Amino acid sequence: MHILVWVVILVVILGLLISMSRAWRCTCGVREKNIAAIVIKNTSFFTLPYPLNALEPVLDAQTVALHYGKHHYGYYEKTLKALGVDAITLEELESYIQHPKRIPHAVRADVINQGGGYINHVFYWRCMAPLAHSSKRAVELDSAIIKAFGSIDSFKEQYLGTAEKQFGSGWTWLVVDEVGELKIIKTANQDSPLTIECVPLLVVDVWEHAYYMCYQNHRREYLDGWWKLINWSTVSQHYQKSIQVKQ
Ligand SMILES: [Fe+2]
Repeated sequence: MHILVWVVILVVILGLLISMSRAWRCTCGVREKNIAAIVIKNTSFFTLPYPLNALEPVLDAQTVALHYGKHHYGYYEKTLKALGVDAITLEELESYIQHPKRIPHAVRADVINQGGGYINHVFYWRCMAPLAHSSKRAVELDSAIIKAFGSIDSFKEQYLGTAEKQFGSGWTWLVVDEVGELKIIKTANQDSPLTIECVPLLVVDVWEHAYYMCYQNHRREYLDGWWKLINWSTVSQHYQKSIQVKQ
């Protein structure tokens, strides 16, 4: 056999081994380590819509446990502490984020940051579903994406490319903007698109805590995996809701 053929075969095998080792590293952590103990004392906290291991092998149970039970829950507890209440509904908090002047001045920055962290994470978890879950984009959403970005593939590349290049900690969103057009936007830290009159449809968390245990600095690999987890049925519902809001 020609030497070039052997080189090609070798490169393909090497690529497969690298990709298998990353997948193994992600899931083996679950077997070797105890899943972080999650103690959700406040029962009014958002309930994850699937088990901690439901997003494997893209996101292992340990990553989801820490992200949901420590980071996300931490934002909720700090929001309550800032407001001096025992519980708050998602709707109430979204209303505060949309109308920050309603928040007492002394705790406004804290509620925007911590409360933003709470609502952004709720949205993130709801935008995903286990790989086995089949979900389809509604025809209306498909048409809107194609109109705005040229094709679904082009949207995928623009969206993941934006998330990949986003500097620092934050979120990459697909939103309906104030004039009813679909746009890809980034928000830093825990800022929410609700503050700029956009209706969010889809979000990915690009804070390192969302992926670092599985993917280290390979953010693009996390994003490629995350794309397969998108719950398009939920995103389609967000789009339908945005049409009603804008009418
Ligand atoms: Fe996060």
